[in-house]
Amino acid sequence: MSKAKIIIDKDYQLASVDKNIFGSFIEHLGRAVYSGIYEPGHPLADENGFRTDVLELVKELGVTIVRYPGGNFVSGYNWVDGIGPKGSRPRRLDLAWKSIETNEFGIDEFADWCKKAGAEIMAAVNLGTGTPQDAGNMLEYCNYPGGSYWSDLRIKNGHREPHAIKTWCLGNEMDGPWQICHLEADDYGKKARETAKIMKWVDPEVKLVVSGSSGPGMPTFPEWDRTVLEYTYEQADYISLHRYYENLGDNDDFLASFVDMDRFIRSVTATADYVKARTRSKKTMMLSFDEWNVWYMKKVQIPEWQQAPAILEDRYSLLDALVVGGLIITLLNNADRVRMAALAQLVNVIAPIFTERGGRVIRQTTFYPFAMAAKYAKGMVMHPLVHCATEGTKSYEAAPFVHTAAIYNEETLELNLFMLHRGRDTTELELDFRSFGKLSMQEHSILDGPDLDAINDFEHPERVKPRKAQTGTGEGSIFKIQIPAYSWNMLRFKIEK
Ligand code: AHR
Repeated sequence: MSKAKIIIDKDYQLASVDKNIFGSFIEHLGRAVYSGIYEPGHPLADENGFRTDVLELVKELGVTIVRYPGGNFVSGYNWVDGIGPKGSRPRRLDLAWKSIETNEFGIDEFADWCKKAGAEIMAAVNLGTGTPQDAGNMLEYCNYPGGSYWSDLRIKNGHREPHAIKTWCLGNEMDGPWQICHLEADDYGKKARETAKIMKWVDPEVKLVVSGSSGPGMPTFPEWDRTVLEYTYEQADYISLHRYYENLGDNDDFLASFVDMDRFIRSVTATADYVKARTRSKKTMMLSFDEWNVWYMKKVQIPEWQQAPAILEDRYSLLDALVVGGLIITLLNNADRVRMAALAQLVNVIAPIFTERGGRVIRQTTFYPFAMAAKYAKGMVMHPLVHCATEGTKSYEAAPFVHTAAIYNEETLELNLFMLHRGRDTTELELDFRSFGKLSMQEHSILDGPDLDAINDFEHPERVKPRKAQTGTGEGSIFKIQIPAYSWNMLRFKIEK
């Protein structure tokens, strides 16, 4: 049996977890909105047409903030189409996904839905076909209390109280040639800066996210990020990162995807810090990893001009869930800079929650690591010292077999560890919590199984789900536990006073 050792010392602290790293994303894409979160006529729909079965799972998932309405969709979207009496809202061609958009659901409905889901909104404005003025108008509609054209229109439309949306993305993936009205870095930088000025004049409290590179594989990365930040460093609060992973036929390589995510975060951090030095700024730019996931269906043919077509509906395996779990650990271990993130997406479209039109809903495999971390990764991220074997994979020179994040909650006196074990055999793990005094082990939950390709479906909705293991042996501050081959683990300890 292979061995590993993790040492955690109370003094080795990184940063506290920002709750907004447990964000997700709803785009007007496929069945994310229509028959995902919103389906009037569904037996479980409430008076607003929101599916209550989906709302329950969204709450169980622990999502704190939801990005909306896109994605590629936002770059051709006129937000005004989605407000006012539903009967007069226009049907439009959505050029991003070649679908018909009925506009039955818009920003007011989304704000109502978020209230019920207990989540904040991360709104995106259109910087493709949209203008800085449109963005200012949308913000005035959403956040200004009343007594101006747009805020009075919101009140007339049934929302006396402002939506009070704090976080706004300035466009989406504007570096991508696929984007509607894609821009060069200088052009986007200037447009984002001028939009940001208007938005902060309308509401000085808002936090703004500028569009960073849509992936480290873009030929313009990281120059895009540098240029954009040079224009917007004063106005921006975050720069965005997007990255999707897929299994290209080598499980070991795929399981090490977290190494790539970590490198990407470090490169964007270095780029932002270069601009900080160059602009002589005192501010440190934070990172919003607002699209991340496993995604396989990029090359699938999209049926044209349908209403809410069933597209990008990836079904996730146990292996995918382990990869997602590894990525969550990396986000946590970069908590000093990654202050916001969004699992893309939330329902049906590359999502942890999957529905039938008019029917049932299930948790995909990827639901579990997210839900467990969202519930228990609260507090201070520690610097763990991990002694374990590493192995090179196809894409990475060396990737550790044990990838871990440790969170110390001083208020509840808990020390919780999240761990991806990508080893092929069981590993005996020694945990040394030295300066924490006496601890007792509360829980060891494991996501693993005999078949890495196993998925959850409507006939077997719980085929893949975490199991509780024996809590192992240990006293004081040293524990010995076994972590199975190919597993994602959550270990919870209580610190005695
Ligand atoms: O999440 C799906 C798509 O991926 C988004 O619309 C876009 O921003 C990204 O390329």
